[in-house]
Order: sequence, then C-alpha cells, then structure tokens
Amino acid sequence: MPAVSLEVPVADVRRVRDLAGEPPRVAAVLGSGLSGVAACVEDPAIVPYSGLQGFPATGPVAGHAGELRIGRLAGVEVVLFAGRAHQYQGVSALDAAYPARLAAAVGCEVLIVTNAAGAVSHELAAGDIVLISDHINLMGTNPLIGWPGPAGGVPFVPMRDAYDPELIALARAVAAERGVALQEGVYAGLLGPSYETAAEVRYLERIGADVVGMSTVPEVIAARALGLRVLGFSLVTNVAAGAGLSHEEVLEAGRAAGETLGALMLGILQRL
Ligand code: HPA
Repeated sequence: MPAVSLEVPVADVRRVRDLAGEPPRVAAVLGSGLSGVAACVEDPAIVPYSGLQGFPATGPVAGHAGELRIGRLAGVEVVLFAGRAHQYQGVSALDAAYPARLAAAVGCEVLIVTNAAGAVSHELAAGDIVLISDHINLMGTNPLIGWPGPAGGVPFVPMRDAYDPELIALARAVAAERGVALQEGVYAGLLGPSYETAAEVRYLERIGADVVGMSTVPEVIAARALGLRVLGFSLVTNVAAGAGLSHEEVLEAGRAAGETLGALMLGILQRL
C-alpha cells in the first residue's frame, strides 16, 4: 500500500496563491452557523469547494456554505473555510482534515478552528463561547493513519499543547478587553451523526470533557503534524443529550453567539 500523504493537489495550492494578494498567514474553519465571519472578509475571492480538486465531495448540510473565502480580515491575509466536510458524511479522517492540509500547503502559520457543540459541563449553557483548551479524540480514527511522518521522521506527533498556549493567552486577553464572556473547556470529538445518549454524556463528563461535537479533531491533529499553531472555539448550541434537539435549534443558537465570536476573532487577528 502506498504511504499516505498529507499533501494536497498542486492545483489547489496554486489556486489559493494566485487569488491571495499576499501569502495568507491565517486560516480559519467556520462551523455550523458561524459563516457570518466569512462575510467580513474584504473583497474576497470565493472558491466553491467543488472547485478544489482535493476537497472531499459531500452532499450539502444546512448551515454550511461550502466555500473558501480568500482576502483580508482585520488587516491579515486569510483563507476562510465556510463549512467543512465531516466524517459522518462518509469521508475519511484524512479528507476531513483537508482544510488544515491546504492551510499548511499555502504557507499559513495559524489555524483557527470553530464548531458548534453540545454542553457536557453543567457550567455551560446554550449561547456560551468556549475557548478549547484541549481535546479528546473519541472518533476511533486518526488522519495520520498510514502517514510515514515528515521526511526522515516518524509519525508520532506530540499532541501536548495542541491548542497553542500563547494563542490561548491572546484569546483570553482580547476577550477580557472587549468584555466578552469566554468559557474554557475540553472538546470531545465523536464520529456522529447520531447525538449522544444520556449514558454517553455521563461518560463524557467523567472523562473530563466539557463540550462534545462531531468535527475539529482530525483538522487539529493534521495541523499539528504540519506545524501549524492552533486556536479553537466551540459555540454551545445545546445541552448534550438535551430533549428534542433539532438541527435548526443548533443553527439558531449559533447565529446569535456567532456574531460575538466573529468580533472576538477579528480582535485576535488584529493582534497576530
Ligand atoms: N452533540 C454532538 N455534536 C453536536 C451537538 C451535540 O449535542 N450539538 C452540536 N453539535
């Protein structure tokens, strides 16, 4: 079996580089209901995911725009992924990590990941913004399976401080300056697409998770393998295993707090 590569098609890298004014420094993945941030990009070049050779083909999921926006945000050249491919849509962990792989290939130094998540911690409620301090990979897979590691190296990527301590400190500082209430917690990544049972939520609580979702983990693992610094935010859209949870409710909760998170991200970009 040929070794797995984290590289992306050269055509995709050229496309982004040609459309960007200057080499992009920061990439961000915008989760459910968070696409509003993408609207803030000045004079964006827009590439639908279908126009990227390496982006995994998935059916549309409500709340996910499915396009790349390249341009300046708060004075920083950025690549924004409005929407992502999830493993529950049938793509591999390696393909789900495509945004991180493309970000690294075009020369970004920082990857900001955002997602909609359910609250596991009793301290959290719908509408809260959570700075991700760490994650627990419960997806049963890993985007680096079959990857031999960097040239001359090994595939055993350290995941301590996967969420960059300096970026975490910066996010805390910007939130405090702006009076944004920012919670912190550990994100548990599950495969989905079914939501958690009540017993699973009790289990997640015991193992130290504060929020739960179905994305982000593959992107962060690939990002760390490729040397990107990572900052992550969850938007709490519901209490995990809450009754009668609909995808519309998840999107609605995301829209309101999404604006606050967008403003916070702009503040952080200004200071990078
Ligand atoms: N569980 C898993 N993923 C989610 C949830 C949840 O409760 N809410 C939003 N994404």
